[in-house]
Amino acid sequence: MTKTAVITAGTGGIGLETALGLAAAGFAVTVVGRDAGRGAAAVERINATQPARPGRFLAADLASLDQVRALADRMADDHATTGEPLTVLVNNVGAMFARRQDRDGVEASFLVNHLSPYLLTELLLPTLTAGAPSRIVNVTSGAVAVAKRVFEEVEPPGGYYGFHWYGRAKLANLAYTLDLAARLEATGVSVLAADPGGAATDMTDGTLTDPRIVSPSLRLLWPLVRRTFERSTSGPASAAARPSIVAATDPALTGRTGVVIGPRARPVAPFRAATDPRLVQAVRRLSQAHAPTTAATGA
Ligand SMILES: NC(=O)c1ccc[n+]([C@@H]2O[C@H](COP(=O)([O-])OP(=O)(O)OC[C@H]3O[C@@H](n4cnc5c(N)ncnc54)[C@H](OP(=O)(O)O)[C@@H]3O)[C@@H](O)[C@H]2O)c1
Repeated sequence: MTKTAVITAGTGGIGLETALGLAAAGFAVTVVGRDAGRGAAAVERINATQPARPGRFLAADLASLDQVRALADRMADDHATTGEPLTVLVNNVGAMFARRQDRDGVEASFLVNHLSPYLLTELLLPTLTAGAPSRIVNVTSGAVAVAKRVFEEVEPPGGYYGFHWYGRAKLANLAYTLDLAARLEATGVSVLAADPGGAATDMTDGTLTDPRIVSPSLRLLWPLVRRTFERSTSGPASAAARPSIVAATDPALTGRTGVVIGPRARPVAPFRAATDPRLVQAVRRLSQAHAPTTAATGA
């Protein structure tokens, strides 16, 4: 039986290394990204790794919930037509913005790091359940530790600090990951989180050199904070992909769910705040309100 894997933001950085690792493990791999040129280059590398199972590129801007819906429709149709299971979904897309941005009125870090993978996952649950045993791997970050734990609205009160807002969106996604794992207990769909630690990639190139990315209190310690950022993001993306590859493939994880794979590619305790029932409830409400699984059709 063919094993298939879809990796979002899989044409560069940690996502491409994850795709290559899954191709080497025998998966037929689909990578999702915005740029067709980078998509073609990624497929070429996947095919060089695994000629027996050609790679595939699907174009989608995952900062657009309409494009997320179209992508989910396309993937669900493809699996229904071919009868191949969707074995692994790696929600690898993530973004950090030094300056506040929004798309269609929704703040971009919450959109890209949480609402987009949330919506793709929810829309693909019937496909993942039909293909069980299957795994969902959501890529998290150590930045969850600096998150403002307020989830009444998409945007927390106070000023915009990109690193903290990124961490808050990743915390929402981690809370969702653990909540979903409990929801899908006994369905054969395992839900895991993977923390890559850090790597030198497009996402970290430039953003982490701007002191405006952190709160005024951390800015007072900027030389130290900057050195910490530099040290933690100096490694190769190939090493940072290990936690996602292990989460997607390790036979020791078979039948286990709600597990967080840490930067050393071993299970670690989940960040405690992500299991707080009030936080989980607030994230659930926000996600359903801002990324409904049925698109508004207009009057
Ligand atoms: N790097 C780190 O130190 C670090 C640390 C902790 C966690 N993480 C997490 O690890 C994951 C991967 O990070 P990374 O550093 O590899 O990121 P990255 O360098 O930004 O990844 C590049 C990939 O993301 C794609 N991409 C970016 N925005 C997209 C969008 N809106 N729609 C579709 N594709 C998009 C790019 O495709 P195009 O070329 O088509 O734009 C490319 O394939 C993220 O979830 C990140 O939060 C990273």
